Amino acid sequence: MGSFHSIGLNNVRQAYHDVEPVFEHVADINEAAAKLAAKRFGYKKVSTDWHEVVNDSEVELIIIATPNLTHTEIAIAAAEAGKHILCEKPMANTLAEGKMMVDAIKKAGVKSLVDFIYTKCPANVLAKELMDSGKLGDFVTFRGEFDCSYCADPNTPATWRQLAATAGTGALGDLTAHVVSLSHMIVGKKIVEVFASWDTPYK
Ligand SMILES: NC(=O)c1ccc[n+]([C@@H]2O[C@H](COP(=O)([O-])OP(=O)(O)OC[C@H]3O[C@@H](n4cnc5c(N)ncnc54)[C@H](O)[C@@H]3O)[C@@H](O)[C@H]2O)c1
Repeated sequence: MGSFHSIGLNNVRQAYHDVEPVFEHVADINEAAAKLAAKRFGYKKVSTDWHEVVNDSEVELIIIATPNLTHTEIAIAAAEAGKHILCEKPMANTLAEGKMMVDAIKKAGVKSLVDFIYTKCPANVLAKELMDSGKLGDFVTFRGEFDCSYCADPNTPATWRQLAATAGTGALGDLTAHVVSLSHMIVGKKIVEVFASWDTPYK
């Protein structure tokens, strides 16, 4: 996702004549990945420690695209350093950590966003417009589905994403977070009841 955010910022440069993102500082604990990102996107500084980005006085916006387990610590440090924050979903592994992040952001008065990309998809925006127009009547139920194949091959190597200790919430946080964000956007009402079925095809 770090690469995709950098590609997105490059597009900002071309799409808006009066906005010029500066690729100031990139960090990744994998030094080769950090250096590659710097080479691909022109980051001026490279680090293997995210603290260096957070404490860089030239940096105004921090994009947190690291594994879920790290989001809370980085976001709180970024807020305390007065940086605006774009954090990947799921924002935190627990409700308590999420609340700590919100508190730190409110206290610092910085801007923040969680990266629920599907709220910008044209079909979903149209669905919201149709619902808001009243043409479709009232909501009775919301049914969301997220089809994803990135773990469909049983020989796929395990990463942090397959481990509860680092990913936190499994498929619910990884994928269903998007569905929940869409229900918030399109329906705009609190979820009062859910049902689900569950299966792990590759144990
Ligand atoms: N919004 C979306 O649609 C979307 C899609 C995919 C992933 N994500 C989210 O983006 C985040 C990253 O996912 P990914 O698929 O890019 O993972 P990834 O494993 O491909 O990349 C994570 C990178 O973070 C680096 N890293 C790990 N720990 C670090 C640390 N402590 N400090 C600095 N760098 C560190 C790793 O070396 C790796 O390069 C996750 O929170 C994930 O849920 C969001």
